[in-house]
Amino acid sequence: MTSTLAFDVEAVRKDFPVLAREVHGKPLVYLDNASSSHKPRQVLEAEREFVEQHYSNVHRGVHTLSQEATDAYEAARSTVARFIGAQHDDVVFTKNVTEAINLVAYALGNPGSPVPLGPGDEIAITEMEHHSNLVPWQMLAERTGATLRWLGLTGEGRLDLTNLDQIVNERTKLLAFTQVSNILGTENDVPALVARAKQVGALTLVDGAQSVPHQPVDVAALGVDLFAFTGHKMLAPSGVGVLWGRGELLNALPPFMGGGSMIEVVQMTGSTYAKAPERFEAGTPVISQAVALAAACDYLSAVGLDAIKAHEVALTARLLDGIRELPGVSVLGPDSTEARGSAVSFVVDGVHPHDVGQSLDDLGIAVRVGHHCAAPVCRRYGVPATARASSYLYNTETDIDGLLDGIVQVQRFWGAA
Ligand SMILES: Cc1ncc(COP(=O)(O)O)c(C=O)c1O
Repeated sequence: MTSTLAFDVEAVRKDFPVLAREVHGKPLVYLDNASSSHKPRQVLEAEREFVEQHYSNVHRGVHTLSQEATDAYEAARSTVARFIGAQHDDVVFTKNVTEAINLVAYALGNPGSPVPLGPGDEIAITEMEHHSNLVPWQMLAERTGATLRWLGLTGEGRLDLTNLDQIVNERTKLLAFTQVSNILGTENDVPALVARAKQVGALTLVDGAQSVPHQPVDVAALGVDLFAFTGHKMLAPSGVGVLWGRGELLNALPPFMGGGSMIEVVQMTGSTYAKAPERFEAGTPVISQAVALAAACDYLSAVGLDAIKAHEVALTARLLDGIRELPGVSVLGPDSTEARGSAVSFVVDGVHPHDVGQSLDDLGIAVRVGHHCAAPVCRRYGVPATARASSYLYNTETDIDGLLDGIVQVQRFWGAA
C-alpha cells in the first residue's frame, strides 16, 4: 500500500479468492468491475451460512426455519436501506437494476398509475443511458403514446444541459437518468437535474448501478423519487437488485407482477394488493442473494465508501495520465477525475477493441470490450465499440501500470505503435 491510498488494499485483496489466480500463466488483473465485481469471503460465507443453517421460504411459515429466514431477509432489507439512507419499507428487492427499472416503467403504464401517460406526455432520459434505462422507456412510450426525449452529450462526454429546459418541460412526466455512466464514466449533476424536474412536476428515477458500489449515496439527500441499483457490481452475487422509492409513491403505484405474497385479499372476482415492499415482490423472492447483498453492504461500509472513492480516484487519475502519454490511444469520456467514476473507455487507433481485449486477456488483464449496452453513445462518438477498464477497491497501482504496459504491447503486436 502507498501513502496516497486510503486503506489497506493488500488486506482487502486477501478477502477475494479469485485475485490469487492466474490467467494464461499471468497473475489476474481484473479491471472489468463496471460489468461485475468479485465477491469477498465474508459475502460468500454469509450466504453459505444462511443457506446451510437458516434457509426456508420467507413470510409463509410458522416453523423455526421459516421464521429465521424471514428475519434474515427483512434484516437484510434494513441493512440495505441504511446503506442508502432509506427506510426499510421503501426498499424492494428485485432481480437486478434492469428489473427495477422495468418494474417502474411497467407499473406507470398500468391502469391506476398515479402518473397516467398518453399522447402529448413526455418521458425524458439522456443519450448516455445503459440500454436498461433506455429500452423500458421506449416500450412505455410505445404502450402509452407518450413521446421519449433525451438530453444529448458534449464532445467531452458530459450531459449537454444547454437545452435542459426544452427537454424537461411542462409535458414531462418522468426524468430518468444515470448517476454515473457505465461507458463514459461521467458523473451527472443529480441535484441540478432533480431541481429542473421538480420545477415542472416530473418524477425522477436515477440509475445508481455505477454509483452505489463506489461512493456514498443517500437517496433522501439526493431528493429523487425512485432509485435503482444492482448487487453483482457491489460484491454481492448476481440475481439481486434494489428499487428504492418514496413510500407514498411506491404505495400509489399499481403492481408490476401478480402472484403470491403481493396480495391483501384474493377472491375469484378480484384481489387487493399489499403495501410496498411486498406489493412488488410477487412469488418467492431472492432470499439468500438479499442476505449476501446485506453482507456486501457491511463489507463496503467497513472499508468506507469515502475511502473507496478516494482510492478509485487515485487509480483513475493514474490511468488517465498514463493514457495521455500513449500516442494513438484516446479516452471516450471525461479526461479528468472531476465528477467522474472509475470506468475508462478507450480506443487504440488501428486495433479493433475486440482485438485489444483479446490481446490484454493473453496478458492476464480482464477489460470489457463492446458497446457496453450503451450503443447510442458509441454511435454519438463515431466508434463501433471501445475497450473499458474499470477499477474497484481491490485494484492497485500495479494493475493500472500493467494495463498501460499491456496497451503498448497490444499496439506493437498489432503493428499500431
Ligand atoms: C449504468 C447501468 N445501468 C444498468 C445496468 C444493468 O445492470 P443489470 O444487468 O444488473 O440489470 C448496468 C450494467 O452494466 C449499468 O452499468
